[in-house]
Amino acid sequence: MSELRTRDVVDADLPAVLAIRNRSFGPLGTGGDAWWQRVSAETLGGRMIAVVDESGTVLGAGRIRPYEQAWGGRHLRMGGVAGVYVEPSARGRGVATTLTRALITRMGELGDVVSCLFPTTATLYRRSGYEIGGVQTRTTYAAHLLRDLGTSRTGRGGSGGLRPATRADAQWMHDLARAASARHGVSGPMVPSVAALEGTLERDELIAYAVDGGFVLYDLSEQAVTVEHLVATTPEAAGTLWGVVGSGSSATPTVHTYLDPRDPVTLGLGGLPAKEVRQIPWMGRVVDLGAAFDGRGFGPHTSVEVDLLVEDADAPVNSGRWTLAVSAGRGTATRADGGPGGSVLRVEARGLSALWCGWSVSRLRQAGLATGGTPEGDAALDAVFAGQPFITEYF
Ligand SMILES: CC(C)(COP(=O)(O)OP(=O)(O)OC[C@H]1O[C@@H](n2cnc3c(N)ncnc32)[C@H](O)[C@@H]1OP(=O)(O)O)[C@@H](O)C(=O)NCCC(=O)NCCS
Repeated sequence: MSELRTRDVVDADLPAVLAIRNRSFGPLGTGGDAWWQRVSAETLGGRMIAVVDESGTVLGAGRIRPYEQAWGGRHLRMGGVAGVYVEPSARGRGVATTLTRALITRMGELGDVVSCLFPTTATLYRRSGYEIGGVQTRTTYAAHLLRDLGTSRTGRGGSGGLRPATRADAQWMHDLARAASARHGVSGPMVPSVAALEGTLERDELIAYAVDGGFVLYDLSEQAVTVEHLVATTPEAAGTLWGVVGSGSSATPTVHTYLDPRDPVTLGLGGLPAKEVRQIPWMGRVVDLGAAFDGRGFGPHTSVEVDLLVEDADAPVNSGRWTLAVSAGRGTATRADGGPGGSVLRVEARGLSALWCGWSVSRLRQAGLATGGTPEGDAALDAVFAGQPFITEYF
């Protein structure tokens, strides 16, 4: 096998990278050129890496999108791995494996403390320490039930200050979304950046409305509405926004949503969500355990201290024995190499990623991803990492 090297993608490589992309996923569709320009601009200069052979020919590439993701209601820098593809004639020789490892190292250097991706194959990413973290859920509602939420709260014609949202609202929307993640203490959602919101609003990519205490961004196509974001701080704001989403029920009877699977709309709806949900699995990875643990949030009434032994060849900064302590909603991870004896739970990178994403230790044991430890230690780790992370945005 020829020798593989990794290096940053530069402007001149983009045609070669795009050609591999098109040989992997087919030609770019409508609007694809603008999308390609945008993602390239976002990741060139450190966030797009190529694998090349000894002659310098690009064999594969991958991107790290710069995201902010809620964990326990606090926000961490998350590297969203996407655009991983390998020239068909170079497949099966470890190009993607070499690339994934380089992406993890780069995320560590950039300060992205966790990483997520939507895989087409789990095996490739498991090799590099990713595990299934959860799903992106599409929940569907009958539009007329949502319409009723609006009319029952505000009366017909009453719109509660409803107005189209504009580019100037981007910062306000970002702040509302961030505050909502914190309020609900959720794990998984990515807060759209101010720049991303500005772009979406400027390009009229989604239909956008604002109201006192909330906003909604949705799409309308193929006889269905698809809600991408809906944030509300009061029942009145929620009612008005859901009311406008459902207001076209005569023409578009179906409303899909990519939101928290436990969005409170379910509690107020005068009917049931559709039985069919669509779920897309995503994988997560801890890139820098110490920094990620110190930065994320925890349940304010959780008070616990427990040791964990990690072996992580691709992110050596995670390796070693750690004391994980949680109190008053905050955590600290302290190196405890040479700590007192006793049996400590031992995980490799995949087990650490699964634990981080809320899989209980009993499940890790059953999957062969954890060894050692004690029942007491297992319960403590379950208390630390309890949660059901969900991602709402596909990337
Ligand atoms: C998936 C892809 C990136 C793998 O690239 P590659 O350089 O051949 O991967 P590697 O040689 O490093 O193989 C790593 C592992 O990935 C898995 N893998 C690779 N191709 C696979 C496929 N088509 N189906 C299932 N698993 C696959 C295998 O487990 C493989 O290990 P193995 O060969 O020991 O079984 C490449 O086939 C590709 O570009 N596919 C189309 C685009 C795509 O799916 N990208 C991934 C987006 S998340």
